[in-house]
Amino acid sequence: MPKKIILDCDPGHDDAIAILLAQGNPNIELLAITTVVGNQTLDKVTRNALAVAEIAKINNIPIAKGAERPLVREVENAPDIHGNSGMDGPTLPEPKRALSEQHAVNLIIDLIMSHPEKTITLVPTGGLTNIALAARLEPRIINRVKEVVLMGGGYHTGNWSAVAEFNIKIDPEAAHIVFNAGWKVTMVGLDLTHQALATPEIVERIKEINTPASTFVVELLEFFGKMYKQAQGFDAPPVHDPCAVAYVIDPSLIEVKQVPVNIELTGTHTLGMTVADFRYPPKKCNTQVATKLERERFWDLVIDAIKRI
Ligand code: BDR
Ligand code: CA
Repeated sequence: MPKKIILDCDPGHDDAIAILLAQGNPNIELLAITTVVGNQTLDKVTRNALAVAEIAKINNIPIAKGAERPLVREVENAPDIHGNSGMDGPTLPEPKRALSEQHAVNLIIDLIMSHPEKTITLVPTGGLTNIALAARLEPRIINRVKEVVLMGGGYHTGNWSAVAEFNIKIDPEAAHIVFNAGWKVTMVGLDLTHQALATPEIVERIKEINTPASTFVVELLEFFGKMYKQAQGFDAPPVHDPCAVAYVIDPSLIEVKQVPVNIELTGTHTLGMTVADFRYPPKKCNTQVATKLERERFWDLVIDAIKRI
């Protein structure tokens, strides 16, 4: 039985690859794509999601627009990494399909309430605003989802400050709600995603597929690589968001450790830090953090999905 997911994202180069992985992998049933402000404004990331849907041949599932700003903080985007459009690099196709008329938060709630309990996994790869709003608006979803597997955070480093990661830092209050709601949360953070580097060999393997989808991914990675080199000194860009989808597809790809995680909401230098407590033998807690990636198998999965599209 394919695993049902809702992908809540802010495309975004790596979000786009996460969408392609979800669509191209036979063990995933993508129920909806929802968008949230993040890498760029809500309008831009939503337009990007529609364009990726064209490339991924996603025709029959809803794509819905969500929160245009964080719960408390001002909007922060990431043009240094994702460019002015949020997905600079490739020429994007004109979206042919329409957006869902529902707000993303209502769509998430309706899908979870109308499916059997514990069958839907939420996969957020942007700020957690939509997911937090959904949990507050309809708390019954908390016990109905199977789990939340999110890209965000990190227990030993940050990328939007010394200790905070972008998706958490842009809406820390939403992250606080999501991490403390009580549902199972797997944090696929920077500790893990910095192991998923798109090296020149990987880009070459994708190029060899030679389809519109693979060309699109290569163009994304070329731009993403250039920006990551400039902004953060990486020799190859870390492809964060598909790691969360990969964990849902095959949890054996990623080692996790069960530890309590709290979100820093007041620190002068630590706002948005995901504070993971490794001090004791695992306590019973609802959070776990991703620690180690089986890199080769991860890229095989991504490349296989691109080939299938
Ligand atoms: C995360 O931030 C965004 O820029 C990426 O799409 C990813 O979700 C990495 O910190
Ligand atoms: Ca993202």
